Amino acid sequence: MLALLDDALSREGPMLFLTGAGISAESGIPTFRGPEGYWTIGSKNYRAEELATYEAFTRMPEEVWAWYLYRRSVCRAASANAAHLALVELERALGDRFLLITQNVDGLHLRAGSTPARTFQIHGNIDYLRCEDESPEELHPRIREIPAGISLEWPKTRRIADAERALLQCCGRGRWSRPHVLWFDESYDEPLFRFESSMDAVRRASLVVVIGTSGATTLPSHIVNVAAHRRVPMLVVNQDESPFTQIAERLSSAAVLRGTATQYVPAITRALIERA
Ligand code: OAD
Repeated sequence: MLALLDDALSREGPMLFLTGAGISAESGIPTFRGPEGYWTIGSKNYRAEELATYEAFTRMPEEVWAWYLYRRSVCRAASANAAHLALVELERALGDRFLLITQNVDGLHLRAGSTPARTFQIHGNIDYLRCEDESPEELHPRIREIPAGISLEWPKTRRIADAERALLQCCGRGRWSRPHVLWFDESYDEPLFRFESSMDAVRRASLVVVIGTSGATTLPSHIVNVAAHRRVPMLVVNQDESPFTQIAERLSSAAVLRGTATQYVPAITRALIERA
């Protein structure tokens, strides 16, 4: 690991940290593909992949909103862990040489203290909603924090009350706003999800550290493939096997750190700070 970090430090370009649900697992937030990933509506059990879709939202907006408000309450009850905090410390040391790309919508990196400008939330943020029916001259959909009148405690069975329903409408026009997240049947873009900026960063990166992701989504796969192709020093932290650990195992420019995020991330950031 240290030889790869020294190689990275001798290069120009941003040090890129790509995180997935595994970094928040030790904060108590269930991972996406873990055993908790289902939700019951009526008599039917849905998998996350079925509910986190534009199609499901169009069919049953209220039920999908209730699921997100429950998931938001789980995220809000959690606190940042040593891995999130280590990344904040490294950002302070590296400044603009540091870039964080996260798939997590839990907002824990920002709550830990990572700065929004250097944190690309490529799947959105569960604390925000957006309206897609703004006036035509509006260039991008409007994003805003979920209003304070929506409770932060949301048991699984709780339904949306009338007063809360009004708060989740778009500017009082009787149409639903939507959670500010990327759904399975939607595509990445630059204005909302920093697609081009992320790709540009990996093309220039001096180091890529991949933490706690199963490698199931396309932008993270592009990032790891570009890094592998460029032979950029790369570290993959995961307690389990994943497509990314398999890629790293084949490369002399990469290493797999088999263990948890809190086990390895503080050690990586400490070594970088000491050697920078
Ligand atoms: P997953 O739940 O698919 O994968 C989490 C990964 O973290 C797995 O490889 C676990 O083995 C690993 N892991 C679990 N606990 C860990 C720990 N303590 N330390 C290190 N690694 C650990 O979550 P993601 O890869 O983040 O996107 O999922 C990616 C995307 O899939 C999500 O953002 C979501 C979903 O599609 C959208 O909703 C668009």
